[in-house]
Amino acid sequence: MLLQPRFPFFLHGGDYNPDQWLHVPGTVDEDFRLFPLAGVNSLSVGIFSWAALEPEEGRYEFGWLDDVMDRAAARGMAVVLATPSGAKPAWMAEKYPEVRRMTGDGVHEPAREQQCRRHNHCPTSPVYRAKVRAVNEALASRYGRHPALAFWHVSNEYNGECRCPLCLAAFRDWLRARYGSLEALNEAWWTGFWAHAYSDWSQIACIDDSVDGLVLDWKRFVTHQTADFLRAEAEPLRRLAPGVPVTTNLMGFYEGLDYMRLARELDVVSWDNYPQYHERPGETERLAAMTGLAHDYMRSLKPGRPFLMMESSPGPVNWYHHNRLLRPGQHRLKSLQAVAHGADSVQYFQIRKGRGGSEKFHAAVIDHEGSENTRMFREVAQVGRDLEALRPVLGSVVRPRVALVFDRESDWSQKAAQGPLESIKTGYADTVAAHYRPFWKRGVAVDVVDGDSPLDGYSLVVAPDLFLLRDGFASRVEAFVRGGGTFVATWLTGIVGPTGLCFRGGFPGPLRKVLGVWAEETDYLYDDERNSVEFAAGNRLGVSGSFGTSLVCDVVHAEGAETVATYGRDFYAGTPALTANRFGKGEAWYLATRGDEALLDAFHGALARRLALPRALDAELPEGVSAHLREGEDGARHVFLLNFASAPRAVDLGPAPRRDLLAAGASVSGAVTLPPFGAMVLEDA
Ligand code: GLA
Ligand code: ZN
Repeated sequence: MLLQPRFPFFLHGGDYNPDQWLHVPGTVDEDFRLFPLAGVNSLSVGIFSWAALEPEEGRYEFGWLDDVMDRAAARGMAVVLATPSGAKPAWMAEKYPEVRRMTGDGVHEPAREQQCRRHNHCPTSPVYRAKVRAVNEALASRYGRHPALAFWHVSNEYNGECRCPLCLAAFRDWLRARYGSLEALNEAWWTGFWAHAYSDWSQIACIDDSVDGLVLDWKRFVTHQTADFLRAEAEPLRRLAPGVPVTTNLMGFYEGLDYMRLARELDVVSWDNYPQYHERPGETERLAAMTGLAHDYMRSLKPGRPFLMMESSPGPVNWYHHNRLLRPGQHRLKSLQAVAHGADSVQYFQIRKGRGGSEKFHAAVIDHEGSENTRMFREVAQVGRDLEALRPVLGSVVRPRVALVFDRESDWSQKAAQGPLESIKTGYADTVAAHYRPFWKRGVAVDVVDGDSPLDGYSLVVAPDLFLLRDGFASRVEAFVRGGGTFVATWLTGIVGPTGLCFRGGFPGPLRKVLGVWAEETDYLYDDERNSVEFAAGNRLGVSGSFGTSLVCDVVHAEGAETVATYGRDFYAGTPALTANRFGKGEAWYLATRGDEALLDAFHGALARRLALPRALDAELPEGVSAHLREGEDGARHVFLLNFASAPRAVDLGPAPRRDLLAAGASVSGAVTLPPFGAMVLEDA
C-alpha cells in the first residue's frame, strides 16, 4: 500500500532549513539547482521555524515558505511540512512563563527551565496549546491544499516531561479516572510502605521513586499527555487538510514514551535512524542486527504497511563521542537496509549544513564547501538512483510469522523497581536484540509486539525478560498456544502485574500454567561468573552439547513441562534450564537463564527449523550478510541481500535466474559475490 498515493515514489530528501539562510541571497536558487543532481525529491520544511514563521506574536511571515512550497510543486517534489512546536520562540517564553517546562528529580521542588535549547515546552499549558493551534491552523489553511504537500510532520521527536503544577494536576485527573478512588490507588501502589498512604489527591505532588507504582503510572501519564498534545496539534491539520497523512518522527528505542500507544495517533509511522556504522571488527554485524530490530519495531507500530525513515545521516553526526566517517558504500547500505525492512523513504538530517549552532559539524547532503563535488553528495546521488531503480518495491510490505515481545511498560516497571539486578535493567533492548539476532542471521522476518498486541497469525512468539504482564496477556498466550502456536518465555518473566505489584502464587505468575514451570528462586551471578546449560540426549529440539550462560539463573521446577536442558553447575546443577510444555496443539518454552549467543542461536535456529519458518532466501548466509523479503499486494517478491562486512561475501542464490534491480536488472543465479558493503535486490525473472 502506498503511504501517499499522490507521490508514488520513494521519498529521498530530508530536513531543509532555508529559513536559516534568508540573509544569504541566492542560497535557495543554488539548493534547487543541486536537488536534482542529488536525486532529492522531497523536503522536510519548517521543523524549527517558529521564530521565522511568527517573529512577533500574531504576525505571520509566510513568504519564504510560499517560495519553497511553490518551487517544490513546480518540480513535482514532495514536501513534508512540519508544525513548529518542537522549539518555541523567545517572545513566547518571555511573555508566558508557563509554556516553559519544569524539571525535577522527585525529591527537590521542580524548577522552571529558562528559554534555551529545544523540545522544552509544557505539554499541558493552555497557552502553549493555544499558540500551537493558532500557528498550525495558519499553516493548514495556507498549505492544506498545496500541490507540494505530501505529509504533515507534527513537531519533532517528542520527548521529555514536565513536572509543573499544570502537569501534576492533569496527572491527578488521569489517576482519578484510572483508579476511581484513593483507596484503590493506595492499594495499587502499595502505599502502606514507608507511611506513603495518600489521604487527599492533592498530596500526589511529586514523582517519588520509592513508590514504584507511582513512577510507572507517571510514565504512562507522560505518554498519555504527549499523545493528547499530539492529537490537539493534529486536529486543525486533519480538519483543514483532510487526506494528508500525519506523522511525527520517533526515535527507535527511546525509553521515555510508549510508542505502541503514541502511534495510535499517527496515520504513518516515521523514525530517525542513526546507527554508528564503522569498521570495528566484530561490532558491525551486532549493530546491523540491532538497527534491523529498530526498523522492525518502528514498522510494527503500524503492522502490515511501510514506514518512513524520516532522518538518517549521510555521514558522521556531531553527537557521538567519536564521529567517524562512513566508509564508502556504508551510507548506501544503511539506506537500503531501511528499505529492506519496509521503509518507503530515505530521508536525511540534513540537506544543507548550517554555518553555526550546535549542529554545524553534522553531516549534510550539501557541505560547507557548497558544491556537488563531495564524496557525500555523490553517495547521496547514488542512493537517489538506487531508489529510482527500486520503484517496483514501493508500497510492498513485510509479513513476519515471528513476533518478538518488546514491552515498554515492562521495561519501565523493571527500571522503577529497586533490584534485583541493576545491570540487566539498562539492557532490555540488548536482551531483546539477543533473541532477534538468530532470526536476522537466517533471513527470518520478525515483527515486534507488546503485551497488548494480538498474537493471531504468528507461528512463534518470543517474550524475553517480560517482567510485567499486562491484564489479559496470559490468557491470550494460552489461546495462542492452545491453537497450535509456539511461545517462548525466559528468566524474570511474569513477576509483576500492571501496577508493579508482585504476583502471588509463584512466578511466572499467570503464565505458570501454560509454561508448566514454577520459577522458585533466581540466582543473579556476578558479571564475570558463568554457569552452563547441558542439553539432554535425544531431546525434541535436536540440539546437543553444553553451552555457556551468565547473569541470571532461575531455579525452576518442571510442573508438567519436559526438561530439555539442565544447569551444569552450582547447587542447582541438574535442574531445568530449558523446558517445553505441550499445551493444546502448541508448545510453551521456558528458558530459565540468559544463555550465551551460541545457545540462543542453537535454540532459535532449531525452533525456526521445526516450525519451518519462511526465510527470505533459501541459502546459507555468511557472517555479516542479511536477507529480507518485501511482498507486494500483486504478489511481487523482492529479496534484499545486504553485506555489512568490510570484506566480500559469497552467497549461493540457487539455480533459478533472477534480476538484480540494483544492477540495471542484470540476470543473476548460482554463486554470487557481494562486495564489501554491497547489496542486491532480487526480483523473480
Ligand atoms: C535528531 C533531530 C534533528 C537533528 C538530528 C541530528 O534526530 O530530530 O533535528 O538534531 O537529531 O542527528
Ligand atoms: Zn507542565
